[in-house]
Amino acid sequence: VDTAGIAVVGAGYWGPNLVRNFAADEGSTLRWVCDLDEERAAQLAGRFGVENVTSKLTDVLADDAVRGVAIATPVSTHAAIAEACFDAGKDVLIEKPLAHSLDAGVAMVERAEAAGSVLMVDHTFCYTSTILHIRDMVQAGDLGLFQYYDSIRINLGLVQSDVDVMWDLAPHDFSIIDFILPDDIQPVSIAAVGTDPLGVGHVCVAYVTVNLSNGATAHMHLNWLSPVKMRKVMIGGSQRMLVWDDIRPEQRLSIYDSGADLHDASEPRRREALVAYRIGDMVAPALPEVEALSRVAAEFRNAIKTRSVPETDGRSGLRVLAMLDAATRSLEADGASVAIPTFPTGP
Ligand SMILES: NC(=O)c1ccc[n+]([C@@H]2O[C@H](COP(=O)([O-])OP(=O)(O)OC[C@H]3O[C@@H](n4cnc5c(N)ncnc54)[C@H](O)[C@@H]3O)[C@@H](O)[C@H]2O)c1
Repeated sequence: VDTAGIAVVGAGYWGPNLVRNFAADEGSTLRWVCDLDEERAAQLAGRFGVENVTSKLTDVLADDAVRGVAIATPVSTHAAIAEACFDAGKDVLIEKPLAHSLDAGVAMVERAEAAGSVLMVDHTFCYTSTILHIRDMVQAGDLGLFQYYDSIRINLGLVQSDVDVMWDLAPHDFSIIDFILPDDIQPVSIAAVGTDPLGVGHVCVAYVTVNLSNGATAHMHLNWLSPVKMRKVMIGGSQRMLVWDDIRPEQRLSIYDSGADLHDASEPRRREALVAYRIGDMVAPALPEVEALSRVAAEFRNAIKTRSVPETDGRSGLRVLAMLDAATRSLEADGASVAIPTFPTGP
């Protein structure tokens, strides 16, 4: 069987999840675990029977049997590690966000395209059964007119040292918006405010609003200093409304057959009769509990073998970075609205 040789770089908090899923992926052969902390890499490799361990990326790149490198190192190191991989002719799966700046991300995508390398970003949520279902509904028009996306992503910690709360948590929502919205609805501008109550040097509490081209908004409430953990998104449409509660495994998705309609305004009616509310049934679809990262691993391995473009390619990573970059500029301008540059799909 022709399996794809894979190396995982970064054995910290997230790396072990990549190792576990590539180890389980039948189309992949996990050849290396690499971490600057070789002892950490060795422990992780030992747990999953991975043959080779190193603290040096050059060891990984010198192995001709390695075709894909999955990178789970701190964001500030993504660009340099990925570019070394492209130069060595390897394909890359990189953790979100793609890079530490929009410029670095643009350079990465150009380098990958010039080298003919696959560049996939681990926008994990796009591979969950819930988001795949939501995307199908939104794109089939099942929600009616798209009215809003409203997200709460809060918990206590982990306060990151190299990125603020927006760069840590908003990539999830930005990548989901990019993934589920039909092509004719684009993010156009962004406004962000936030605070740093601990004085760590960047915001730990943030409120971000994205204005969409159809007049709808997407709002995110991001907080590292919340006593409770919440991962809840509401999506409103004129026909149906969705609630996605990701820490409720028995009912992650609730679909409400509810909505509001404005009566024909030309009809003479009393003011309170202008809006008609529909309160319909709620359905909680039984969706398969498949670990998203197993789909990520399969998508990357398939792209390596078939040279196909992954769903969450480098350009989707750039669109997310463009939103992060605009959000940071808005934050610096006290919440002023900042236009989001566009990055079309495909080279
Ligand atoms: N997809 C998700 O849901 C998700 C969740 C958490 C983290 N992440 C992402 O994963 C990445 C890593 O985050 P983390 O929380 O695991 O960080 P971490 O600090 O826990 O681990 C990073 C590891 O990388 C190693 N490292 C640093 N520089 C290296 C280099 N040049 N070569 C080899 N190893 C190096 C460190 O020694 C450390 O073990 C980040 O991009 C983060 O945004 C994604």
